[in-house]
Amino acid sequence: MAEGTPILHSNPSSNNHASFEADSSILKIVGGHRLSGEVRVSGAKNSALVIMAGTLLCPQDCRLRNVPSLMDVSRMSEILASLGVKLKRHGDTLEVDARHISQSKAPYELVSQLRASFFVIGPLLARLGVARVPLPGGCAIGARPVDLHVRGLQAMGADVQIEHGTVYAYVPGSNKRLKGARIYLDYPSVGATETLMMAATLADGETILENAAQEPEVIDLANFCRAMGARIRGAGTNTIIISGVPSLHSVDYSIIPDRIEAGTFLVAGAITRSDITVGPVVPDHLAAVVAKLQAIGTTVVEEGLNRLRVVPGDRHIGTDIETLPYPGFPTDMQAQFTALLAVSEGDSIITETVFENRLRHAAELNRMGADIRVKGNNAIIRGVPFLSGAPVNATDLRASAALVLAGLAAQGTTLISGLHHLDRGYDNLEAKLKAVGAKIDRIVGEAPAPSVDVVATTTRPRTDGLS
Ligand code: UD1
Repeated sequence: MAEGTPILHSNPSSNNHASFEADSSILKIVGGHRLSGEVRVSGAKNSALVIMAGTLLCPQDCRLRNVPSLMDVSRMSEILASLGVKLKRHGDTLEVDARHISQSKAPYELVSQLRASFFVIGPLLARLGVARVPLPGGCAIGARPVDLHVRGLQAMGADVQIEHGTVYAYVPGSNKRLKGARIYLDYPSVGATETLMMAATLADGETILENAAQEPEVIDLANFCRAMGARIRGAGTNTIIISGVPSLHSVDYSIIPDRIEAGTFLVAGAITRSDITVGPVVPDHLAAVVAKLQAIGTTVVEEGLNRLRVVPGDRHIGTDIETLPYPGFPTDMQAQFTALLAVSEGDSIITETVFENRLRHAAELNRMGADIRVKGNNAIIRGVPFLSGAPVNATDLRASAALVLAGLAAQGTTLISGLHHLDRGYDNLEAKLKAVGAKIDRIVGEAPAPSVDVVATTTRPRTDGLS
């Protein structure tokens, strides 16, 4: 393996903020400035995380390119290292050597910090015939069970017990190979589709996944596995067919651009009434996001093959949005659109169908003068002419992006705390926004508690009796 930076002895996040710093730091945004220019999109977080887990399938060197610099990637590196995998990072390239896996048990301290680490269960089981992975538990946006992963692995012949908070899975029999199976997923879960696809690559016989997730990251994982010699058809449709092979081989693979990061920048253009270009992107991956931007009154044009330019409209009008599995509108863009609709004329309703607790940003946006009522899984938004800067707290990853977007558009100064959420999933967000003209700075140190004076002067009184 080539020389590089051993991943565990460095902070691979180019945000250059260790998590404890991020916890006590704030982002200061002076809003109301137009943006201009081009923003570069990093590799997809959700592809990178699952593909990193997928390297456990490979007994030879793997080189991953276009790997974003994120806290989540750093945590997944730690999990792989704890299993005996060697990793080195050079810029956005990650060299992974999973020849020798010394452990089949992922440590709870790490799994509990990164839900996506549960993904190691499929490849560990396929490669070693045994895996012990703590239940990841709930997270800020919902309970997020793993029953579909577990039931699918059982259908493939694994014996799975859940004891003391850990999933113990092993393949009975002397050859320790999972068996191909026909599996219908009750819900097109992204994670379950990915777990079962990875598990099936080395299984004995054919696996058919029905009602599979169709997300671009599922296709990216399938392409990565195919580049290692796996036989997979149908990724990107609701039926994926995997014919197991005895072993996989070395690979050099580049991760797709992050459609959610790209979508966040497109909304940044729209909400600040700016003309900016975002790339590289795969425009098809953003079809639902672009359709909603256009419904609101923003124009989005393709520039060449892999860039999108957002041109603000004269007026932005509210629209309704329902989150759905791909190709529907992504739940990971819901919070950012909540911020945009908060300053679009008229009423909008957002319906969150994927996660049960993903509207917590509404209360923070209301502190900035938005008029949003949450009822169950609906956010009822009455557009206001402007937002006012305020101290606010990020409650989850995409909520933190929504607050940044609101801060860029707001009058005055916004102070955002809870930055460990932002650093999980955005690669160098401040630098990228600064480069297109945003007034945004990270202040490292103690996050100030919102002062009563500031709250009193920045929160609009509600008119609906629900304050
Ligand atoms: C992935 C993405 C996340 C995105 C989500 C939906 C990664 C690392 N994360 O999460 O950013 O928001 O897809 O696009 O790729 N469910 C069950 N049982 C299961 C599995 C899931 O009930 O065994 C439920 C979940 O609780 C949730 C819904 O199915 O309500 C969707 O979850 P899923 O598609 O699995 O999302 P993740 O893979 O966790």
